[in-house]
Amino acid sequence: MCGIVAYVGPRDAQPILLDALGRLEYRGYDSAGLAILNGHGVQVRKKSGRIEELAKACRAKPVEGRSGISHTRWATHGAPTDANAHPHLDASGKLALVHNGVIENYLELKDRLAKAGHKFASDTDTEILAHLVGDCFSQNQEKGEVRLIEAVRKALKQVQGTLGIAVIHSDLPGLVVGARRGSPLVIGVGNGENFLASDTQALAPYTNRVVILQDQEIVALHADRFEVASPLGQKADVRVEEIENGVTASDKGPHPHFMLKEIHEQAETVRNAFRGRLDADEATAKLGGLNLSSEDLRRVERIFVLGCGTALHAGMVGKYLIETLAKIPVDTQHASEFRYGDSPVHEKTLFFAVSQSGETADTLGALREAKRRGFRCLGICNNVSSTIARESDGGVYMHAGPEIGVAATKSFTSQVVIFTLLGLLLGRQRSLSAAHGREILEALDKLPDQILALLQESASIQRAATAYAKARSMLFLGRLANFPIALEGALKMKEVTYIHAEGYPSAELKHGVIALIDKETPSVLIATQDGVYDKNLGSLQEIKARGGPVLAVAHGDDAKVAGLADVVFRVPRTHELVQPILNVIPLQLFSYHMAVTLGRDVDKPRNLAKSVTVE
Ligand code: M6R
Repeated sequence: MCGIVAYVGPRDAQPILLDALGRLEYRGYDSAGLAILNGHGVQVRKKSGRIEELAKACRAKPVEGRSGISHTRWATHGAPTDANAHPHLDASGKLALVHNGVIENYLELKDRLAKAGHKFASDTDTEILAHLVGDCFSQNQEKGEVRLIEAVRKALKQVQGTLGIAVIHSDLPGLVVGARRGSPLVIGVGNGENFLASDTQALAPYTNRVVILQDQEIVALHADRFEVASPLGQKADVRVEEIENGVTASDKGPHPHFMLKEIHEQAETVRNAFRGRLDADEATAKLGGLNLSSEDLRRVERIFVLGCGTALHAGMVGKYLIETLAKIPVDTQHASEFRYGDSPVHEKTLFFAVSQSGETADTLGALREAKRRGFRCLGICNNVSSTIARESDGGVYMHAGPEIGVAATKSFTSQVVIFTLLGLLLGRQRSLSAAHGREILEALDKLPDQILALLQESASIQRAATAYAKARSMLFLGRLANFPIALEGALKMKEVTYIHAEGYPSAELKHGVIALIDKETPSVLIATQDGVYDKNLGSLQEIKARGGPVLAVAHGDDAKVAGLADVVFRVPRTHELVQPILNVIPLQLFSYHMAVTLGRDVDKPRNLAKSVTVE
C-alpha cells in the first residue's frame, strides 16, 4: 500500500528518498514521486510504474536540495498515471503534499474549492487535501513554521477519512510537517538529520531510533530537532525507541524471492512462535502477554476472532483448535464485516484481532468497534510497534521476523501455532487431560524438524507446478481444520499466479462445485489421515470419476491416496490437530512454483499491497 518517506538534513535528499522508497517496494504500489526544496521552489518528479522509472526521471533531470518528501502510491482515486502520482501541489505551486489513506469527503471539499476558483490536475483525493492545506496557509496570519503547522491542523479539521501526510512549503525550507490519523507514521531520529516514514523498513540504513507518532499527532521536523503536538496544539511527550534493522533485498540469501525465503524460514519461525511458551510440567502453554489471570481465562465463555485474508484463515483453524481442545464456541468473521455489522455478541466473549502487519485498516477498525462495545480485545501480531499491537488489551507476538513477500506464508503458520497454544492453555483450564495436552506439546516440539523434512519435497512440487501451470481454474478442498487450509491454498494461488482458485469443504463438491470438474480443472485435495479421511477419499473418487486431475496432500506412506491421485504432495505425519500447519506448506510451495513458471512478479503481485491500510 502507499508509502511515505521524508528527509531533512545536511545531505542531498534525492538519493536518500529514492533509496528509502525502494525499501517500501514490498508494500505494493503503482507509481512513485518526490518533491524537493531548493532555492528554486518545490521541484517535483513523479512517474507511474516502478521506482526505477522515477529514478530514471531523476537521473535525466536531477534535483538538488536538502529536504524533501516522497511517496509510493497504490491507486484508490484515479488510475495509476503520472498526473495522479504524489506529491501533489497546492494552487500556489509552493506547497507539496504526499498522503496515505483516503479522504472520504473529498468530493464535497473539491466542489467548495472549485467554486473558489481552484483548478485541479489529477483525479485524486490527495490533490484536494494539498489545495485545502495551501488555502489555509494563505489565509493564516502566523509567521514562520507555525504558519504551515496551523494550516495543516486547520485543514485536517475539515477532512474526514484516514491519513498519514507529509508536507513541505518553499517559503519554509528545512521544514517537513507530518500528521497522522489512522495511517501509521514514524519519525526516524538521525544525527543532525531526521526522517519521516510510514514504515520503519524505509529507515533501515539510516537510523534505528524511531518515534512512533500517535493517532492525530502533528510533527514539525527539522534537521536538528522535531516537535510533536497533539491535535489541540499541546506539546506531546515522545519516546525514542530502538528498533531492529530492517530487511534489504540482499537479505533474500540464496533464495530468488522473499516468498520462497519466508516459506523456508518456517522451521525457525514456527519454533519462535512457541519458544518459551511450552510448559511441559503442567502440559499446557504459557502466554503472559494476554494480561489475563487464570480466573479471567476461566470466565471466558465465547471467543470471537477478527482478521482479513490469510490472518482470518488462521483464525478459522484457530476456531477448530479452540473448540476441540477447550470446548469454547468460537466465531470468526471478516474484520471488514464485523465493524459495520450488527452481530450480537455474548457478554463473556474474548476478542482476538489477528494481523501480521498490525496495521490492516479493517482489522484495526473492527478491534476499535469491539473495544467500543466494551469487550476485551487481544492482538495476535507480528509487528510489535504496530497500531493493533498497541491498541490491544494484550496479546501474543508471532516473532516471525519481517515478512516482505506480499503473500503471507510464515505469518500464517506462526498464527496457527499461537492458536494451538491458546487452545491448549484454555483447554487445560477446562477438561483437557494432561495426557492429551502433552501429545500436543510433543507434536509442536517436533514440528520444526518435520518442516525441514517437508521442504525437501520442493523439487517434486516444482515439477507438478510445471505440469499444471496452464490451468485456468483450480479447486482446493479440505475438511474441518483443513477447510481453512484449502481456503489459504486457493488464496495463495490467486494472489501470486492470477489463476482463478476457490477453496471449499470437500463435501460441498456435490452441492454445486462438482459442475466445474473437467480434465482441465485440477483439484488440490487435502487428504491426510484423520477423522474424515475416508470421506475425503470419497471426494477424491468423485473427482476422478469425472475426469478431473487430483493433486493430493497426503502422508508419505499413504498407498491408497498414492494409487488414486495424479500427484501426491507428501507431508510428515503429526497429531491431527497440528497437521494443518504441515499441510499448508506444500500449497505455499505449489503456488510459488506455479507463479515462477508463469513468470509472475512473485513478491509483488499485481494490484496487491502487503499492508492494506485503507478500507
Ligand atoms: O497484515 P495482515 O495480517 O492484517 O494482513 C491481512 C491480509 O491483508 C493478508 O493476509 C493478505 O490476505 C495476504 N496478502 C495474503 O497472502
